[in-house]
Amino acid sequence: MVSRVIPVDPFDLVIFGGTGDLARGKILPALYRRWRAGQIPPGARVIGAARAAHDDESYRVLVGQVLAAADGGPDELAGFLRIVAYQRIDVAADAGWEALAARLADGAGRVTAYYFSVAPGLFGSLAARLQAHGLAGEGARVVVEKPFGNDLASARRLNRDLAAHFEESQIYRIDHYLGKETVQNLMAVRFGNMLFEPLWNSQYVDHIQITVAETVGVGGRGAYYDGAGAMRDMVQNHLMQLLCLIAMEPPARFAPDELRDEKLKVIRALDPVKPHHIVRGQYEQESCGYRAAVGNPRSRTESYIALRTHISNWRWAGTPFYLRTGKRLVARSSVINVMFKDAPHSIFGAEAGRHANVLSIRLQPNEGITLKVTIKEPGPGGMRLVDVPLDMSFAEALGAEEHDRPDAYERLIMDVIRGNQTLFMRGDEVEAAWAWTDPIIAGWEARGDVPKPYDSGSTGPGDAELLMQRDGRRWQGIKP
Ligand code: BG6
Repeated sequence: MVSRVIPVDPFDLVIFGGTGDLARGKILPALYRRWRAGQIPPGARVIGAARAAHDDESYRVLVGQVLAAADGGPDELAGFLRIVAYQRIDVAADAGWEALAARLADGAGRVTAYYFSVAPGLFGSLAARLQAHGLAGEGARVVVEKPFGNDLASARRLNRDLAAHFEESQIYRIDHYLGKETVQNLMAVRFGNMLFEPLWNSQYVDHIQITVAETVGVGGRGAYYDGAGAMRDMVQNHLMQLLCLIAMEPPARFAPDELRDEKLKVIRALDPVKPHHIVRGQYEQESCGYRAAVGNPRSRTESYIALRTHISNWRWAGTPFYLRTGKRLVARSSVINVMFKDAPHSIFGAEAGRHANVLSIRLQPNEGITLKVTIKEPGPGGMRLVDVPLDMSFAEALGAEEHDRPDAYERLIMDVIRGNQTLFMRGDEVEAAWAWTDPIIAGWEARGDVPKPYDSGSTGPGDAELLMQRDGRRWQGIKP
C-alpha cells in the first residue's frame, strides 16, 4: 500500500534551539524525511535560531553532518540544505530579533511556525519577544515540547505565559505518542468497527492493562530524569494519552476540540490513586544501575511505576485500569491489553477449561492486533477448550514498509504546518493531567517512599506482580 503524500504550502519554520539535541535528533531528521517524500516544497524555509556563532553556510554544514547518516542521496541532501538558513539570536535578550523579523518579512502571509526547542523557563520570554517584534500574527504557530511543567502550578504558569501572546488555536503542545501511527490506530480500531464498541464497557471488560516497557536506561539525561521520574516523564503524558484514547467516549467528529473534549472528560473522571495501588521501582545493575547513571547515590526517583486507577463514569465504573512503564526492562514493548470477562456460564463443564478473550493492541514494535479466541482443542478426547490468537501484523496486512510511513515527529510537524491540532494537547488537558498526578507524587513524598529495586533486564519489581495478584489477576508478559 503506497502512502499518499500531499505537499504542504510553502512555510517558514524557525527552530529556537536550532543547534540543540532535539533539533539534531528529531526535528531536522523529520523535516529531511518529509522533504525526501516530496511533502515540503522548495519555497519553504527552515531557519535554525540559536546563540551559537553560525551563519547560513556553517549551519548548513552542521545540518549536513547531522543528516549524513540518514537515507537519501547527495542531491536530495543538497536540495534540502538549500531551504535551511540560520539566524543568530538571543532568546532571552534583544540581539538578533530585528534581523529575524526582517528575514521573515519576505515570507509575509505564509504560515510561520516557531518551534520552542528550548528550556520551558524560556517559553514566556520567547513568546513575548515574538509578539513585540510583530511575529505573533495570524499565521504564527508555536510548538512546545514536554516536559510541559513539572506540576500543576508550573503548567498553569506556562499556559498563562503563552496565552498572553498567542491564542490557544496557535499553540501546538507535542506529545509524540499521539503522532505514532498505531496510537491513532487505537481510534480506528475502536470507532471504525462495529465489533468492539458494544463490548467496550465495564459490563464486558474485566480490566485493561497499559504497558510501555523500555530496554533503554536514562542515557545522558540523568539530571532531567532524576528530577522527573517515570511518573512525570511517562505516565502524566504518554500513558495518560493512551488511557484517554482507549477509554473516551466516541467524539462526534475526528476534529481537534471534539476529540480533546472527550479526552479531558476521561482525565477529570480519574479517581485519585490509593497508596497501596502504586508500585515504584528503580533498576539495579552491576556496572551502572539507576543511581550511578544519574550520579545520585541516594536518589529516590522511580525508573519504573505500576499503578491501578479507575475512571468514575457510567461506562467504566468498576473496571480497573492498570498502567505500568519502566526503563531497562526485559523488552521494548508498548501494548494495551483489553481483558474481557469470562463467559457467564460454561456449557462444557469445569473440566473443559475456560478462557477469557483478550484483545491486545501492540503499539510498538511489531505493531498489530491479536484477539485471543476460545476454540475446541483439536483431536479426540472430548470437549477441551484452548485459546488461540487471531493475529494481525499491520506491516504484513498493509504491506507498508516501515520507512514509507512518517514517524511521529514527521506527522506532527506537518500537522502544525497544515494547522491541524487534533493530535496535540490542549492547555486544559495538560493541567487536568497534572491535577491528577500531583497528589500521587505528593503522597509518596510525604511518606518518604523509597522505590523497590529491580534487576535490569527483568519485568520490574516483584511488588508489581503482587499488585495484580491481590486482585486475582496477572500482567500479560512483556514480549518484544
Ligand atoms: C520520552 C521520554 O518522552 O519518551 C523518554 O522522555 C522515553 O524517557 C521516550 O524514553 C519513549 O519514547 P518512544 O517513542 O521511544 O516510545
